Amino acid sequence: MVVTTGATEAIAAAILAFVGPGDEVVTFEPYYDSYAAMIGLANAKHNVVQLELPDFQPDLAKLRAAVTDNTRMIILNNPHNPTGSVFGDDVLNEIIALAHKHDCIILSDEVYEHLTFGLSHVPVSTLPDGFERTITISSAGKSFSFTGWKVGWATGPEKLITGVRTVKQFLTYSSGPAFQPAVAQALSLPDNFFQQFAASLSHTCGLLADSLEESGIPVFRPRGTYFLVADVSQLGYQDATDLARLLPERLGVAAIPMSVFVHPENRQAYSSLLRFAFCKKESVIIEAAHRLRGLSELAR
Ligand SMILES: Cc1ncc(COP(=O)(O)O)c(C=O)c1O
Repeated sequence: MVVTTGATEAIAAAILAFVGPGDEVVTFEPYYDSYAAMIGLANAKHNVVQLELPDFQPDLAKLRAAVTDNTRMIILNNPHNPTGSVFGDDVLNEIIALAHKHDCIILSDEVYEHLTFGLSHVPVSTLPDGFERTITISSAGKSFSFTGWKVGWATGPEKLITGVRTVKQFLTYSSGPAFQPAVAQALSLPDNFFQQFAASLSHTCGLLADSLEESGIPVFRPRGTYFLVADVSQLGYQDATDLARLLPERLGVAAIPMSVFVHPENRQAYSSLLRFAFCKKESVIIEAAHRLRGLSELAR
């Protein structure tokens, strides 16, 4: 294991350790933005497999077509930011099979591992043949809401973790040493701590989703993470960016258009989707839910 400056540094170190100029990396799309930045920094090619509505799952045939002998790494983010989806064992097993067939590494970003709603998280490294090619990334920021502490970690086979550690050594050398004992203690909290945390997030998610739906906006209810996705086309916005620009000023609520998490040439496919975060105190979400009832006034 190597402790890093948040999951962000673990992602950076893993990509810089194993991906070089001309290599190809496959991610699902939409994707967490730091993957694109780091793949770019490594001078590699970023190929995507789109997650498809209504449940943001990949088409396995398209996944098989995207991974080739040129693929050096498959980046998996499960549970998935920004869509809130959780991938089934069929997807995870396909990724493992492809990694073996094409001799590539799986980088599994599982920072939302404890934040699933009504289903258990399955680390890809625990499935048959999954461990030997997988670097798994976790974060105290997500598991304990200590985002500002920036303590993350990567686990996996020694050979892969040595590569991550070697790069990390020249990025930051050490990470949050004063915080590490507290995180270690937090990790030994009983299961019911994590269950209650997920239950409280599921509750705030429900409050936000209900209010959006009551305003006539379809919501893709997430299976995990901090985020839910809403389709604002019925308010007359084909490009959710226009509404995202209005929301802070008009309703005092902020949301992020899904199109920022995709390749520029693929924006059209997700253009009417907005991502809302519900990782806030219940009182804040209740206020936001109340304000969002004013969304109909922004219809056009
Ligand atoms: C999918 C995903 N990976 C990694 C990170 C970064 O985590 P950290 O704050 O531990 O650097 C985030 C933060 O939003 C995230 O959503």
